[in-house]
Amino acid sequence: MSIRILATSSLVGPALAELGARFPELRIAAFRSPEWQAALPSAEALVVVVSEPITEADLDAAPKLRALGTCSVGMNHLPLQACQARGIAVVNTPGVLTDATADLALALLLALTRRVAEGEALVRSGAWVGWAPDQLLGRGLVGKACGIFGSGPIGQAFAKRVWALGMTPFFWDREGLGGVVDFEAGRAPRLPLADLLPRSAVLSLHCPLTDQTRGLLDRAALAQLPVGAIIINTARGGILDEDAAIDLLAAGQLGGVGLDVYAGEPRVNPRWLQAPRTVLLPHLGSATLETREAMTRLLCDGLTVALDPPFK
Ligand code: DGY
Repeated sequence: MSIRILATSSLVGPALAELGARFPELRIAAFRSPEWQAALPSAEALVVVVSEPITEADLDAAPKLRALGTCSVGMNHLPLQACQARGIAVVNTPGVLTDATADLALALLLALTRRVAEGEALVRSGAWVGWAPDQLLGRGLVGKACGIFGSGPIGQAFAKRVWALGMTPFFWDREGLGGVVDFEAGRAPRLPLADLLPRSAVLSLHCPLTDQTRGLLDRAALAQLPVGAIIINTARGGILDEDAAIDLLAAGQLGGVGLDVYAGEPRVNPRWLQAPRTVLLPHLGSATLETREAMTRLLCDGLTVALDPPFK
């Protein structure tokens, strides 16, 4: 069997098929299926998605591997050091999903504060009897502070959006940089965690999952947020201590939690399903047609360079 590119799905758009035509043969096999395992030894490039963790043992089983591509910006599911040690190029999709992810974070924020899901459920239930002065009252955002973990492109794009709503953004980032972040629409300071948390009426996570950010928003950090604070997570589940957040929601300390990502997803901590004031989405941050096509294209462009470098 001569497989050059082994992918777990055809992704969105024509780019992967075009790559396969350029570097025959492309094989598509479900992640960890017997067919996928059988193709590993001849694969020169692997293509996976964010829910498909690759291990060092997989690299051992793929001695011809020259490139490992993921249709995601996040790379916490890949053995990066082992790839570097073996000279395997790692290709991801930064940049093209910035706006889509920031849009979804904003959608979660507005859905929570304006009780969109509850309102929709009320109408669909047939139980709505008409406008009432105190019906499904939400919370306004104008004039409130928004803490943003991560001052990279997605954090900045989210800052632009909340700025447009009349909020005041503040950043924290794992480099511990000070100074200000210029996010096009305005400028906002980078603060130490101890300064950012107590003033964040809203806290939105936009940093990668690394050893440094794993469990960063733990019980002690959550306790520093003001009463009624709202947390939005479109980054990675492992950054937030989910059980602590659920406890604080139940105790009325947290005002709401909007999640697109979960520790150990697709498993969702069953406590989330009972927790009040939550909006739960199935990892849709980059899920627009335009974005997914652009991700596939960018990934395939990177794999083309890795498999056929211009300067050999
Ligand atoms: C990413 O790109 O890392 C997203 O989480 C997948 O949509």
